[in-house]
Amino acid sequence: MSRTSVESIGNFYQHYPKVAAIVTASAGGKKNAMAVAWHSSVSREPPLYGVSIATKRFTYRLILQSSEFGINFLPFEAAELVASVGGSGGGEIDKFQRFAIPEERPLKTSVPVLKDAYAAYECKVVDNKTYGDHVWVVGEIVAVHFADNAFTDEGVLDLTKLSPALYLGAELYATTDRQSVRLLDRETYGRR
Ligand SMILES: Cc1cc2nc3c(=O)[nH]c(=O)nc-3n(C[C@H](O)[C@H](O)[C@H](O)COP(=O)(O)O)c2cc1C
Repeated sequence: MSRTSVESIGNFYQHYPKVAAIVTASAGGKKNAMAVAWHSSVSREPPLYGVSIATKRFTYRLILQSSEFGINFLPFEAAELVASVGGSGGGEIDKFQRFAIPEERPLKTSVPVLKDAYAAYECKVVDNKTYGDHVWVVGEIVAVHFADNAFTDEGVLDLTKLSPALYLGAELYATTDRQSVRLLDRETYGRR
């Protein structure tokens, strides 16, 4: 296979697909939701989750005001909702009203928890650091919501029951192939 080696990132999609998620926040009587592809678990103890958000996002303002955010993981059927909240500004419209987004009651914060999410974390901000044109916002997970039937007894997403929304870049969404799951025990494979 021929390869290209260059110094520029182009559209920066080389490391995708990413799980498409929705970050939520509320402050001063306003609530909002935005799509995120740049997010990650950071620590197990304490449980920390990070999201990379451009400072111009309306959601960022709400997170700064409230020091809280929610991160919601959506099934492929809800990919259109991801595109909707990722293509509109909370400064101009009430996305919850416009896109008729159903919510569930949060447990420990005032962030909107999306009913369509197969899993959601409520986070309290513990750190906030600017890297280039984005801010890496890290929150401690203070509550977890998940659909009981979407996970196996081991807490693994059950792909026979649920297909996660993945983002490929360039407005393209995809999901997993249910037949592709392989059990590869790390100890066995580490000894090979
Ligand atoms: C699939 C997808 C992923 C995105 N990922 C991010 C991201 O990780 N960080 C970010 O700042 N913006 C991201 N965006 C852009 C924001 O979701 C978008 O600008 C949104 O309109 C911001 O809304 P707000 O201004 O109401 O907060 C993404 C958009 C899409 C469609």
